[in-house]
Amino acid sequence: MTDLAYTAEVARETAPVFDMLKDQYDEKHWENLAPYIYEINRLKKEKNAVILAHNYMTPDIFHGVADIVGDSLALAREAAKTEADIIVQCGVHFMAETSKILCMDKKVLIPDMKAGCSLAEGITAADVKLLREKYPGVPVVTYVNTSAEVKAESDICCTSGNAVKIVNALESDDVLMIPDKYLAQYTQTKTDKKILTYNASCIVHERFTPEDIRDFRARYEGVVVLAHPECPPEVLAEADYTGSTQQMIDYVEGEKPSRVVLITECSMSDNIAAAHPEMELVRPCQMCPHMKRITLPKVLSALQNEQPEVLVDAEIAERARLPIDKMLEMS
Ligand code: 13P
Ligand code: SF4
Repeated sequence: MTDLAYTAEVARETAPVFDMLKDQYDEKHWENLAPYIYEINRLKKEKNAVILAHNYMTPDIFHGVADIVGDSLALAREAAKTEADIIVQCGVHFMAETSKILCMDKKVLIPDMKAGCSLAEGITAADVKLLREKYPGVPVVTYVNTSAEVKAESDICCTSGNAVKIVNALESDDVLMIPDKYLAQYTQTKTDKKILTYNASCIVHERFTPEDIRDFRARYEGVVVLAHPECPPEVLAEADYTGSTQQMIDYVEGEKPSRVVLITECSMSDNIAAAHPEMELVRPCQMCPHMKRITLPKVLSALQNEQPEVLVDAEIAERARLPIDKMLEMS
């Protein structure tokens, strides 16, 4: 049984992180979190494990224990080249599955097996087969927010960060982009190709409205509005910039707006605010219930027990790897 006390050593070792996060957590809260951070970082080294964390992780995970942070594309790239024996995926199930497909010889853990995604749940492999029958010869571009079985039926994958590039690089004039209707509609505005789509959406981003953005602009003079392409088109039409989670972070770090609002999951703003105290982040909170299943105690438990482990059938993984590899080559 690990002793999770807030000792002088734990306080000393975690002090730089607390310094960064003291606007997010008060001292009492920190005394509970710090022993987890200390023990996770110790165990990670002992087991040669790497923690890949999505940009929607809470600041304690994002700034406290993650080795690599990023959007789906960055995490897939890192998974493909890691030399660790164990990958702990702090994100949702499709991300862990993508890591496993790219590293079948490694142990891939997800701290909570129930961390799903409304997009991944919105389409099955059987649906893709039906679409292929309906649109013979049309290439199928599949968002990474899908199951391994769906990827296995696809021609190429994309993420929100490279969707436009991938679609424009295809030879065909018609493209089937699945399953996110909003990412497909956004991509349509950036290409001459005809994009056919499916009817799934993200339960987080579909909640934003154009009125929300007009309201932010009215209340926060000069605010720069960044939005994720999973938002409805009328929301994106009101934004100053559209990009993946990492592209939004890169925009903020490059352009250094003094006041900014991110039309995406709430932890993004918390993580940027911690790293950039000079910036004012207007923080609307739309929470992804799946991402929020990942907590420090569950990360520690996953590392200690090497469970829950994400497994992918070898034949499915072999077929799903092709569209992922194609995407990585092209982006
Ligand atoms: P990114 O690839 O932009 O990080 O998006 C993943 C996601 O699930 C957004 O909701
Ligand atoms: Fe899926 Fe939306 Fe959550 Fe991203 S924010 S993991 S797309 S449900």
